[in-house]
Amino acid sequence: MAFQQELTRWYLANKRNLPWRHTQDPYVIWLSEIILQQTRVEQGLPYFNRFLEAYPAVSDFAAASETEILKLWQGLGYYSRGRNMLFTARQIMDLYDGVFPVSYKDLIKLKGVGEYTAAAISSFSSGEAKAVLDGNVFRVLARYFGISTPINSTAGKKQFSELAQSLIDQEDPALYNQAIMEFGALQCKPKSPDCEVCPLVLSCYAKNNKLIPVLPVKLKT
Ligand code: ADE
Repeated sequence: MAFQQELTRWYLANKRNLPWRHTQDPYVIWLSEIILQQTRVEQGLPYFNRFLEAYPAVSDFAAASETEILKLWQGLGYYSRGRNMLFTARQIMDLYDGVFPVSYKDLIKLKGVGEYTAAAISSFSSGEAKAVLDGNVFRVLARYFGISTPINSTAGKKQFSELAQSLIDQEDPALYNQAIMEFGALQCKPKSPDCEVCPLVLSCYAKNNKLIPVLPVKLKT
């Protein structure tokens, strides 16, 4: 079975039940993705729930004061995320009449939304075929395909993003994006990946060449 099919099959059998996976609302997905940017799922989950309860729609978020937002954000760190979100929520009220954009090209213009977040929101909310590339995806691709170009080099970013984009399932990009991230988070882990029970082990370059501890390569900066 192809790489993509194995991943989605694994995902359907092993995925965590996370609240933002049951919605296509771009506002809710944005909320989850910004919270999860520098935060672990277990830590971010209660914050996500509290924010969604306090601000069910982007208009509610936009109407909040910075003090309120930062108070709810307390303990998450990287407070610029909260400030950027307030700026963005207000911009969405002004520019888009409160209708949260779903296309990659509109999303990438928003403050605090980079390539990863724009790909995540557009694929999960509207099924746009944009591949996500985060630390989990870098690791899975580097190991499976045996790519030793440093992931934080200019050449590496280009090579991995072209590969990721070439692999994305055009039929269900959201499923594929969730699957490869979850596979990296739960199965193809940084330190001790579960190669014994991995559905991709036979064709994994790193496993077959004893390169699991070496890949992905990251340059010291
Ligand atoms: N981390 C960042 N985005 C995520 C998502 N959609 N599901 C699980 N973990 C994530």
